Amino acid sequence: MTRDFPENFIWGSATASYQVEGAAHEDGKGPSVWNEFEKRPSAIIDNCTGDVSCDQYHQYKKDVAIMRDIGFDVYRFSLAWSRIFPEGTGAMNPKGIDYYKRLCDELLANGIEPYITFYHWDLPQALQDKCGGWQSRDCAKYFADYVEKTTVALEGRCKNFFTVNEFLGCTDQGYFNGVCAPGIKLTKKGRNQVRHNMLLAHGMGLQVLRDVMPQARVGIAENPVFMTPVLDTPEHVDAAKRAFREINGHFITAIMEGGYPDSYLEAEGGDAPEVKDGDFKLISAPMDFLGLNIYYGRLVRFAPELEKKYEIFFDDAATEWTDCNGMFQPAAIYWGSRIVNELWSPKEIIISENGTSNMDRPAADGEVYDVFRIKYLRSYLESMSRAIRDGVPITGYLHWSFLDNLEWRSGYRRRFGLTFVNYRTQERIPKLSAKFFKELIRTGRIA
Ligand code: NOJ
Repeated sequence: MTRDFPENFIWGSATASYQVEGAAHEDGKGPSVWNEFEKRPSAIIDNCTGDVSCDQYHQYKKDVAIMRDIGFDVYRFSLAWSRIFPEGTGAMNPKGIDYYKRLCDELLANGIEPYITFYHWDLPQALQDKCGGWQSRDCAKYFADYVEKTTVALEGRCKNFFTVNEFLGCTDQGYFNGVCAPGIKLTKKGRNQVRHNMLLAHGMGLQVLRDVMPQARVGIAENPVFMTPVLDTPEHVDAAKRAFREINGHFITAIMEGGYPDSYLEAEGGDAPEVKDGDFKLISAPMDFLGLNIYYGRLVRFAPELEKKYEIFFDDAATEWTDCNGMFQPAAIYWGSRIVNELWSPKEIIISENGTSNMDRPAADGEVYDVFRIKYLRSYLESMSRAIRDGVPITGYLHWSFLDNLEWRSGYRRRFGLTFVNYRTQERIPKLSAKFFKELIRTGRIA
């Protein structure tokens, strides 16, 4: 039977430290901005915390055994910076780094390659206190130092790294509208500087990785605003490409092109960030892969009557809204990856996140029949397979998420996992979708 995906395609899933680890104050871990933010009344739905969560800190062997059974090639997880450096800088916490060594060893012993994300939003609170966190350029230096020392300490156990996950979730949500940690509301000027400082952190982190581990493969995991043209015709596709490049001027375009596009600088005017000589040399240094977190996109049409010659719009009938993490829009994965490829030809694209959530519960027989997730997977994977057939260099797919977990300020209600978590007993139940995923990996086909 013909395969939908090549033999060497990389399959796996992703999580993040604050969302799954628990053990928030154990073995010398320092607090992160999320451990502080969650104390604010109603900052997180139900006032829940990350203190225990899925307890992966203690349950990792059980989790790795499930991953092995599903057949993952890769597990993408993030490091809690303040577990390794409780103060964000200075002395390393031996017990903290030891946990990540044990996790990597367990993965490797089970034939699963660790893919590490250095920054998935849980900044050490000590750095927020010391320098205002990402408001300061110094934070990028502290980040590079953490990346360097951690990479050396891991002694080659991990070879694939994402510097930063989703810039916006930290910069704008953390420092501008304040709905995420550290919950600060800066001016536009302040926000733009935070954005720039995080880009710089990526660039400096990438450089130190090149220095201390030349064989490392490095990229980012970014969620630009994706665009889906209304028709696959040259004028609409071109409109979608221009819209994509401009809307994402402050992150992915800046990284891929080595500078902010004019449209961004003009729109921000006097609020544009301060950029120092050499910043963009670091920020735009070549990456080994580009990770795209793709969930949904916006519709775009060629609009000759408008100054920009494109219009971005919503159409309720064309995009099915679900409460499962926004829109059900499988075409986003095709158009998202194709447009990025046509604009900048990255060496490799990894779908570093894609997935959906619901209120999954075990049925009377104990199984979790998450058929909606299988529908989601089938549709999105068809779309990804089309992109690959059209020559987009997608080499891997990491499902969000391996486990049900703490969905930031949305708490524990919605469940994103291929594996169900009973938060009271820490029992794991691989859902029906985990069985679907296992077959997918075994056969290379969308069953
Ligand atoms: C984006 C984030 O990287 C991840 O932490 C989050 O849980 C998922 N998408 C789902 O919203």
